[in-house]
Amino acid sequence: MKIGTPKEIKNNENRVGLTPAGVSALVKQGHIVYIQEGAGVNSGFSDELYLKVGATLLPSIEEVYAASDMIVKVKEPIEPEYRLIKKDQLLFTYFHFASNAGLTKAMIDSGAVCLAYETVEKADRSLPLLIPMSEVAGRMSIQEGAKYLERPNGGKGILLGGVPGVKPAKVLVLGGGVVGTQAAWMAAGLGADVTLADISLPRLRYLSDVLPKNVKTLVSSEYVIAEEVKSADLVIGAVLVTGAKAPHLVTAAMLSTMQKGAVMVDVAIDQGGCFETSRPTTHNDPIYTIDGVVHYCVANIPGAVPYTSTLALTNATLPYAIQLANLGWEKACEVNEELCKGLNIVKGEIVYPAVREAFQG
Ligand SMILES: NC(=O)c1ccc[n+]([C@@H]2O[C@H](COP(=O)([O-])OP(=O)(O)OC[C@H]3O[C@@H](n4cnc5c(N)ncnc54)[C@H](O)[C@@H]3O)[C@@H](O)[C@H]2O)c1
Repeated sequence: MKIGTPKEIKNNENRVGLTPAGVSALVKQGHIVYIQEGAGVNSGFSDELYLKVGATLLPSIEEVYAASDMIVKVKEPIEPEYRLIKKDQLLFTYFHFASNAGLTKAMIDSGAVCLAYETVEKADRSLPLLIPMSEVAGRMSIQEGAKYLERPNGGKGILLGGVPGVKPAKVLVLGGGVVGTQAAWMAAGLGADVTLADISLPRLRYLSDVLPKNVKTLVSSEYVIAEEVKSADLVIGAVLVTGAKAPHLVTAAMLSTMQKGAVMVDVAIDQGGCFETSRPTTHNDPIYTIDGVVHYCVANIPGAVPYTSTLALTNATLPYAIQLANLGWEKACEVNEELCKGLNIVKGEIVYPAVREAFQG
């Protein structure tokens, strides 16, 4: 199959859909791989690295789309790309159709086959192509939190791990899924005094078994959160209620009971945020302060570490990309139920129920 990876053109998107290791695996299986010149540079992969493993470099995005049967990328195509997509072309990338009517219409009109990373689903209902980004965001939330707790960055000036003779910082993690677990683990590793709250008691039992001893677990409730935020130095918002807007677990009223210079990192901002006072921010302007509490609400946290994020994402996507290339999408989706769940739009028709509901009722 002819496979193409264009350079991402969405603002501040530095990841790339295929790494040299991925290209090498595809080329060894007899496929032709086109990489747009410079596509991997922001993730740390030079054109030379791609050439060495057998990629064909093409100078323009137009040529990559024109030459390829399958496009493997990261973000949904944006407007300048719409006209480049060909009928029957397979697009394997994140789409998030339900929140984007313009994209949905453009992909229907294109007649392409859109297989969305975010809906590839395993039998246990986990989402294998979303997990890596949650892992990155969870770990990053502590790194960013630690940074903004520093006095010159607006925080109260506390070191997460303390030092001998000085208490560590208190970190409160709301939600014990992928993001929350990684955040708690990172904070614990730095020596902080960590409390993780979730509504699922079985999940808390599991986490209290596997996480270090400086992580305490609590059943999440409005009362418990109101009490805990008063003494927290860093609060991480990591809840998810599938298919719904995030609940406002920390209200504006609670904010006024918090310490000045405390930091809140709302990872759930992409689902509306789990603090009432959250609004989306960007890597260029990541924080703002309300009631003396620093808010960090970047909606694409993994974008700050494209090297790690690209590797984490492509580790998960590559086996599926290889199967699609070897078998073609129809056969691959027939033999692999996980991939089949990823089909969102097929040659002009919405086939993913939640997307159909969002636009056709
Ligand atoms: N900002 C970013 O860059 C970025 C990156 C990756 C993920 N995310 C977002 O982070 C959020 C968490 O993702 P995840 O992969 O960890 O989800 P997940 O489904 O693995 O975990 C969510 C957890 O929240 C818990 N929860 C639900 N309601 C709760 C409540 N009231 N109190 C406490 N816990 C509650 C659930 O029991 C579950 O354990 C999602 O909104 C996701 O979209 C954001």
